[in-house]
Amino acid sequence: MSSDPKIVIVGCGISGIAAAHRLVKAGFHHVRILEATARSGGRIKTGRLGNNTTEIGASYIHGPSEGNPVFCLARDYGLLDPEALTPENQAMDVDERPPWEPNWFSSSGERLSAEHVNPALELFYELVDDTSQFKNQEETQWASVGHFLRSEARQRAAERWRDKEEATRELLLCAISTMLKVECCSSATHSMDEIDLGGFCMYKSLSGLDCTFPSGYEGLIKNLMSELPGGLVTYNRPVRFVHWNNTEKRENPVMVECDDGEKFAADHVIVTVPLGYLKKHHSTLFHPPLPLHKLHSVQRLGFGTNNKIYVEFDSPWWDQDCEVIYFVWEDEDAMVDQVPDVQGSWIKKLFGFTVLKPTERYGHALCGWIAGHESEYMETLSEQEVTHAITQLIRRFTGNPIITPRRVLRSQWFHDPWTCGSYSYPGKGCSVQDLENMMEPLPVKESQSQPLQVLFAGEATHPYYYSTVHGAFLSGCREADRLISHYSSISPSQPAKSKL
Ligand SMILES: Cc1cc2nc3c(=O)[nH]c(=O)nc-3n(C[C@H](O)[C@H](O)[C@H](O)COP(=O)(O)OP(=O)(O)OC[C@H]3O[C@@H](n4cnc5c(N)ncnc54)[C@H](O)[C@@H]3O)c2cc1C
Ligand SMILES: *[C@@H]1O[C@H](CO)[C@@H](O)[C@H](O)[C@H]1NC(C)=O
Ligand SMILES: *[C@@H]1O[C@H](CO)[C@@H](O)[C@H](O)[C@H]1NC(C)=O
Ligand SMILES: *[C@@H]1O[C@H](CO)[C@@H](O)[C@H](O)[C@H]1NC(C)=O
Repeated sequence: MSSDPKIVIVGCGISGIAAAHRLVKAGFHHVRILEATARSGGRIKTGRLGNNTTEIGASYIHGPSEGNPVFCLARDYGLLDPEALTPENQAMDVDERPPWEPNWFSSSGERLSAEHVNPALELFYELVDDTSQFKNQEETQWASVGHFLRSEARQRAAERWRDKEEATRELLLCAISTMLKVECCSSATHSMDEIDLGGFCMYKSLSGLDCTFPSGYEGLIKNLMSELPGGLVTYNRPVRFVHWNNTEKRENPVMVECDDGEKFAADHVIVTVPLGYLKKHHSTLFHPPLPLHKLHSVQRLGFGTNNKIYVEFDSPWWDQDCEVIYFVWEDEDAMVDQVPDVQGSWIKKLFGFTVLKPTERYGHALCGWIAGHESEYMETLSEQEVTHAITQLIRRFTGNPIITPRRVLRSQWFHDPWTCGSYSYPGKGCSVQDLENMMEPLPVKESQSQPLQVLFAGEATHPYYYSTVHGAFLSGCREADRLISHYSSISPSQPAKSKL
C-alpha cells in the first residue's frame, strides 16, 4: 500500500471540508473532493431577502461555547457579533431553548397574553425534560416521544388545571399542539410520533445561547475553503457509483464513478452525502451493496424536512421586544402535530415565526418554520401560492384584514436532489448502535488486506451531535483522523501527524 494514498471525498459540505482540511494539514497530497453541485457548503447556504442576508440552511451555532469547534472557528475568523463572544453568553445553559420573548395569537384573531398561555409552555418543557429518564432504556411503555408527551400531558393537565375554566383548559391543550409543531421543526420530523423515546435522549446540547453569523454562515465555508489548495474540489461532479472491494489486482481497491462516466481510482473514499440521499440511492451507489446491519441503520434512522419561510413587512404587527410568534389553532385541543388534510390545510403545520433581530440589520422580517409532509407539500406550490396562504394566515390570526407581506422567500430542502430533506433524527427503534453502524468503515472485517476503503462522515454519523453543523464538522475530522492514525501506525514517519 502506498504511503501517500489517493483519497476521494464525496460531498463538499462542512463534513467533507473538515476532513479535507485535516488530511491536507497532516501531509496527505492526493486528496480530492467531488461535489455534485456548483458550490461548497451543502446545507450551509446563505441567501438574500431583498438586500439582506438570510439563511436557507443552517442559521444557528447551537451551543456556542469553547467545546464547540464551529464556535471556535467562527470566533477565530472574526465572524461573530461581540455579544456572542462574551463569557456570559457562552455560559448560558439553556438546552438550545433560548428564553425568547413570545407573542401569542389565536385562530379567532385575538392576542393571547403570555401569562395566560404560560402554563402550557411550562408543562410542555417539563415533559420534554422528563424524557431524559428514558436514556439508554430500550423498553418503555411509550411507542414514541409523541406518545409519551401526549399521554403525560393529558394526565398532568387533568390534575393541574382542574380548577381552570373549561375554555382555558382547552386553549392550553391547543397551545401544546403548537409546541409539538415547534418540536417537529427542531427534529425535522413529520410528527413526534416518529421519534424514538430512548433515541431522543442521545442528543447532547452544549452550553451557550445560540448565535447567528451576521454576514452569513457561508463566511465559515469561505474561510475554510481559502485554506485548502486550489483545485482540490471538482464541482458539478455527482458521484453515481462507488465500486469497492476491488482487491484482486492489488491496485486501488476503490473506483469512484461520476454521472458523466469519469472515473477516479482511490485507496479510500469518504462518503459524506446526506442520509436522505443515502436512503434513496444506497442500492445504486454501492457495489458491492452495504452490509445488512448498516443498511438497516440507514433505514431506521430518520431523515425529515424542516423548511423556512421568510416574510418581510413594511411595518411590524408584533411587539417591539417580541422574539418569537406562536399561532394557536382553537380546534386543536387533541394535542396534534399533523393536519388532517395536507393539501387543504398544510399551513396549520406552521407553528409561527421567529423575529429576525436586530431590526436595523433586517428590517421587519420574520422566519416561519414548517416541518413534515405539510412542508414537503408546501415546496410543490408556487411562491405566489405560498405568499397567498401566509397572507391569509396572518390576517386571520391578527384580525387585521389588510396586512400584506412585502416579500416572501422559502427553502425547499425535500426537493433538493442532493439532500432529499433537512436533517436526521432518531426514528423509532433507533439506538446509539445505529449511529455506530453509520460511521463504521467498509470492509467491516479487520482481517481484510485493504482496510478503510469506504469511510462515512456527515451529520447523521455523529453519535450525539447529529443534525448539527458542529456534529457534521466533527464527523469529518473523525474520519480524517481514522486515516491519519492508520498511516502513522503502519509508517510512523510519514505522512506527518495532524497539527490541527
Ligand atoms: C433548514 C435547515 C436548518 C438547519 N439549521 C441548523 C442550525 O441552525 N444549526 C445547525 O447546527 N445545523 C442546522 N442544520 C443542519 C446543518 O445544516 C447540517 O447538519 C450540516 O450542514 C450538514 O453537513 P454535512 O457535511 O453532513 O452535509 P451537507 O452539507 O449536506 O453536505 C453534503 C454534500 O454532498 C453533496 N452530494 C450529495 N450527493 C452527492 C453525490 N452523489 N456526489 C457528489 N456530491 C454529493 C451535496 O451536494 C452536499 O454539498 C440545518 C439544516 C437545514 C436543512
Ligand atoms: C433590509 O434591511 C434594511 C435595514 O438594514 C431594511 O430597511 C430593509 O427594509 C430590508 N429589506 C431589503 C429588501 O433591503
Ligand atoms: C439594495 O442595495 C443597493 C445598493 O447597495 C441599492 O441601490 C438598492 O436600492 C437596494 N435595494 C433595496 C430593495 O433596498
Ligand atoms: C470482497 O472480495 C472478496 C474476494 O474477492 C470476497 O470473498 C468477499 O465476499 C467480497 N466482499 C463483499 C462484501 O462483497
